[in-house]
Amino acid sequence: MLFCLLAAALAGWTDDAERDALLKKADASVAAAAKKATFDAQRPTYHVMPAANWLNDPNGPLFHDGVYHLFFQHNPYGDAWGHMHWAHVRSKDLVNWERLPIALWPSLKAGEEHVFSGSAGKLADGTPILFYTSIGKRLPEQWAAIPEDKDLLKWKKHPANPILTEKHHGATKVWEWSDPYFFRHEGKAYLVVGGNLNETKGGKGCVELYEAEDPSLAKWKHRGTLFVHPDKEAKNIECPIFFALGGKHVLLTSAYRTPEYFVGKFEPKAGKFLVESRGTVDPGAFYAPSTLVEDDGRCVMWGWIRDFRNGMGWNGCLTLPRVLSLSPGGKLMQTPLPKLATLRDKSVGPTDMKVDAETPLELGGPGLEFSATIALKEARAAGVTLRRSGDGMRAVRIKWDGKELDVSGTKVPAAGPTLDLRVYVDGMVTEVYAGGLAVSRVFDAKANDTGFAVWAEDGAANFDKATLWTLKSIWKE
Ligand code: FRU
Repeated sequence: MLFCLLAAALAGWTDDAERDALLKKADASVAAAAKKATFDAQRPTYHVMPAANWLNDPNGPLFHDGVYHLFFQHNPYGDAWGHMHWAHVRSKDLVNWERLPIALWPSLKAGEEHVFSGSAGKLADGTPILFYTSIGKRLPEQWAAIPEDKDLLKWKKHPANPILTEKHHGATKVWEWSDPYFFRHEGKAYLVVGGNLNETKGGKGCVELYEAEDPSLAKWKHRGTLFVHPDKEAKNIECPIFFALGGKHVLLTSAYRTPEYFVGKFEPKAGKFLVESRGTVDPGAFYAPSTLVEDDGRCVMWGWIRDFRNGMGWNGCLTLPRVLSLSPGGKLMQTPLPKLATLRDKSVGPTDMKVDAETPLELGGPGLEFSATIALKEARAAGVTLRRSGDGMRAVRIKWDGKELDVSGTKVPAAGPTLDLRVYVDGMVTEVYAGGLAVSRVFDAKANDTGFAVWAEDGAANFDKATLWTLKSIWKE
């Protein structure tokens, strides 16, 4: 007995010692790399990203004790994917952020090699709990982590890990099983986890549903397959995100292609999701979004912006926080979080402009926001150019022709008499919002190409309330 107690205490001690040593090493690696990375003028300053090195999916947004916490997939040891950890940032307003020590690490002694994507939940007493996919030289498992302090700075792996294994599926084989997302519905707690039912034969990307067996959120039962992707080409579903919005449920899928949304009805008794409409979330450099559902029902989404070149000492950032809503026809609408307006610094406008040629605005810089309502009038097309060189010879072009918005080759439908256009430029990163649609892109222009212009062709267009702002950094340090 005494021996058992001693062994257990020792195991706990070595786990903590391993955690502390691994996190110290990981944080030091990022700090060393940051010296080089922060020197880069093209690096975003108002998008969430680590101080240096690799970022991918946003994970586990949560609100606790008046503070928002956000995590993301992070490689502390390089600017390419690898050694997945969960990096950690916090904010009081979802706009200004503070970087914190890395939260989750692969427990090497326990056989973990990566801490993959996941989500956050809350226990009945309000204590947060994180869920993630544990990857090692074995089948994937779903693990949990719980905080050790009230500021959520230190985490420990849940003593009940693994909280879910493939044994939960009985005879059903779920391949590439990963990325648990937590939600509550009508008093019950659920997880959805992605994967596929048909590994090599093509298709059957799936979302599996699990229900908590007790309030510990450490015991789960498999309720079956919630959703199978209707497209054969969608071979595997990563990062399924499932939440209530506007009286419906929304499922976000990342199936190795542009993330999609499905809107429909969640049938908890049957454990099924009946889809009524679907669409594309963001056809740009965007993947693996995650969503925070606030107590008042507001849904805020972040995605991973990718497509950066290697070798810069940093790679990847999150999108701006986007507030989600549903149109009456079941379209997912995204608008930038209104509080982002607090980042505005210098400005030109608002001015009602009649534009018949390319007209540079008298304000430039690496961090910009532009807003205007465009009416084409006589013009055949109108738009903006960004990342513009001083002589106007080089620029990225955004074009609207009354039917479609073309973000330098990435096109979204945008029919109507006017277009409410909002453009964010943050170093290499651009986000364009119009009519509830969003496009994120990476433009690897020259560092000094930071000009901005409006234009129209074959006639004059109106740009009403045209305003260009410089934006401040979101970081405290
Ligand atoms: C999506 C993804 C997830 C996985 C994570 C690993 O980008 O592949 O499915 O959990 O990234 O970093």
